[in-house]
Amino acid sequence: MKQVKIGILGAGTVGSSLIKIIEKEKQRILQNHGLEIVIQKVGDRSYQKKEFLKNYNSTSNLEEVVDDSEIDIIVELLGGIEPAFSLLNQSLNNQKSIVTANKALLANKGKEIFEKVKELQKKNPKITIGFEASVGGALPIIKNLRRVWSFGQIQSLIGILNGTCNFIISRFEEGMEYEKALKIAQEKGFAEADPSFDISGKDAGQKLAIISSLAFGCWLEETQIQIEGIEKIHKIDFEIANKNNMKIRLLAISKKIQQKLLLRVHPTLIPRNHLLSDVRDEFNALLVEEEYSGITMIVGKGAGGFPTASAVLSDIVSIASGSSNLWFYDFSSYSLIEDGEYKFYLRFQTVDRTGVLAFISKILAENQISIASMHQEEGEEPVNVIIFTHTCKESSIYKAISQIDQNREIILSPTTIIRVF
Ligand code: HSE
Repeated sequence: MKQVKIGILGAGTVGSSLIKIIEKEKQRILQNHGLEIVIQKVGDRSYQKKEFLKNYNSTSNLEEVVDDSEIDIIVELLGGIEPAFSLLNQSLNNQKSIVTANKALLANKGKEIFEKVKELQKKNPKITIGFEASVGGALPIIKNLRRVWSFGQIQSLIGILNGTCNFIISRFEEGMEYEKALKIAQEKGFAEADPSFDISGKDAGQKLAIISSLAFGCWLEETQIQIEGIEKIHKIDFEIANKNNMKIRLLAISKKIQQKLLLRVHPTLIPRNHLLSDVRDEFNALLVEEEYSGITMIVGKGAGGFPTASAVLSDIVSIASGSSNLWFYDFSSYSLIEDGEYKFYLRFQTVDRTGVLAFISKILAENQISIASMHQEEGEEPVNVIIFTHTCKESSIYKAISQIDQNREIILSPTTIIRVF
């Protein structure tokens, strides 16, 4: 039997679930892995208010945890860049392995952290980093990118990577209002402390930066991803999607196109029979296209305490069992595709007056945007004018829509733009 002592930073939704699983599964972990996991210390700023910590050696001084010489692995579940970055640096300086669920940290400071681990491994190969829980909750994405899809070239990753948005979208599909759907997602522990990180697509963008770095062997950061969230999508868009045999999903996409990378997070209209259209609620999914394995899809719970904690625990067990040596790519660099080409769905909210369609179609034509179909919903103003375009450049769409939306006498609210898969 081997004993491993862990220090936990942050006993919120994920941290408390991790403690519960470790306690409940102690015997099974011992039996299946020959491992005794000891929770040596828990650092949490408001530990005194948390009843479940009363039997643990807890402190509000987080540095005390990373400086505890008894601890082998520091498990960082604080979220955010600081103080997590400094604490993990200090843990590495103290020759400890680290496990983190922190996508914001890795999508912004990943290069520095990984290079430090790589340097330390030269002297002490046991020091490593586990970050399975940073992307897709319970889904084994990182492990598979490092071990399974690591031989041939990866062509694309297409994912649903934010459980909160997917949960809200599922409720929209049932006719629920946004505020109520978000409140439930927060109560269930899916949303970030600041839910605008979920809704704006930022959280999915951070996750896409991490997995694209691994998939394509180049360091990518959050700032390199073009991100749009679900803020401008309304119930009416789901109704129209439904009438057109389509679904709307917030997709995170990275694709290699002729040695360039396309990196995007945006709401997308997908055909109802697409593999991702049945992914609902807080579930996440990733479609990976790789040279030898072809297309593989993994689906599972992408948010919530227990699913995320299960990924954290699997990293702890792997590191303690010595099976998590991190290997590094020769990091290459790719240039990014700044201006992608797509078909678009446009929903204009307009007055119902002679010349409205002529006004819209004239500006679209001036920007080389060809209309595939057009439909006006009858009813009270503002009326919805729906246009599906043929394939055109993103830059042309944004230029045309900003010109169209300037006419406040005709266009009553900002136009909704959704890419069509
Ligand atoms: N807020 C995240 C989500 C949690 O909704 O997917 C997991 O990172």
